[in-house]
Amino acid sequence: MTDTLADSRTSARMFADGVPLVVEDVTTRPASEREAVLADPGFGRYFTDRMFVARYRVGEGWYDARLTAYGPLQLDPAMATLHYAQSIFEGLKAYAQPDGSVATFRPEANAARFARSAKRLAMPPVPEESFLAAVDALVDADRDWVPTGPDQTLYLRPYQMASEPFLGVRPAHEYLFLVIASPAGAYFPRGVHPVSVYLSEDYIRAAPGGTGDIKCAGNYAASLLAQEQAIEAGCDQVVWLDAAEKRYVEEMGGMNLFFVLGSGDDAELVTPELTGTLLPGITRDSLITVAEEMGHRVTERRFSVDEWRQGVADGSVTETFACGTAAVITPVGEVKARTGDFTVGDGTPGPLTMRLRESLLDIQHGRVADTHGWLHRVS
Ligand SMILES: Cc1ncc(COP(=O)(O)O)c(C=O)c1O
Repeated sequence: MTDTLADSRTSARMFADGVPLVVEDVTTRPASEREAVLADPGFGRYFTDRMFVARYRVGEGWYDARLTAYGPLQLDPAMATLHYAQSIFEGLKAYAQPDGSVATFRPEANAARFARSAKRLAMPPVPEESFLAAVDALVDADRDWVPTGPDQTLYLRPYQMASEPFLGVRPAHEYLFLVIASPAGAYFPRGVHPVSVYLSEDYIRAAPGGTGDIKCAGNYAASLLAQEQAIEAGCDQVVWLDAAEKRYVEEMGGMNLFFVLGSGDDAELVTPELTGTLLPGITRDSLITVAEEMGHRVTERRFSVDEWRQGVADGSVTETFACGTAAVITPVGEVKARTGDFTVGDGTPGPLTMRLRESLLDIQHGRVADTHGWLHRVS
């Protein structure tokens, strides 16, 4: 049996102009099973009862938008994305709020980045309001899956891929847009500890004119070998350098980086500027605002490995941290490189790192006033 949300609400929910959002009747798992998952969800292992799916065909536009039972997709073996990787994704979270409501954090920014990613891969962008409608509908329908434990969240994964069965190399004529949701535990359940990083001198993540500033699946496939190399070297994460000179720091794995210069109220922050080869992180952008409001100067500029190493040696670089949706902020401790290892700080998270971390978490979890309008109430 299918129904539109119009039956349970006063106004019909639409996916796009003339495209209703159909809500299927879904058999949900028993509460006891759900609660067992939510007690220890980990990350990316469990999924909610439903998923959102919409289809696109050239000449027809978006159609057949529906909330349906979470489950396997039937894929044609000739499906273009399996061959030529026209595949993009986003990552954002829904947070249980103290008043019992559920809110996502800056989903408009994810919608805009998703559309940019689509355009770069010659895919039809999902209209930003349709992206929001899909995410909202899934979170609302599966709101029982939003965990309420300390620092727990519902991680949301919107993604789009070419679905046309065709082996010619050209932009596909058919696409799928999906949203799935996965309850996530606290990123650091046993306290925040600095990670060790390995500077990738053999492989690059992104080159000028490439796809480093969007979230396409291929960027992540191409990063895995360097990440394995980092682990073999005894490190937690890979740090990417610029492709041309391997001199400037760009990103850490799937996170942006910040360097703290000085200490106390006068501490300043530097973060690599958006040259087109790094992802414009929404956490990065939010932290720039939060840090400036705390009275810290934040500069976006190129930052070299030499400046990092020398700054640590002479005491001017006091802290380094990485940031992204999944972990919010992760302190960086030990740095390994062929040109010489060094360690930032004393092996414990720096004070500004932790203050910024708490400030952003407080906003996301609704523990302080949302003065920037960053929270988007879903249900
Ligand atoms: C390569 C890369 N850099 C940075 C980030 C951080 O971006 P955001 O803060 O929007 O999660 C991510 C995660 O999305 C990423 O995959």
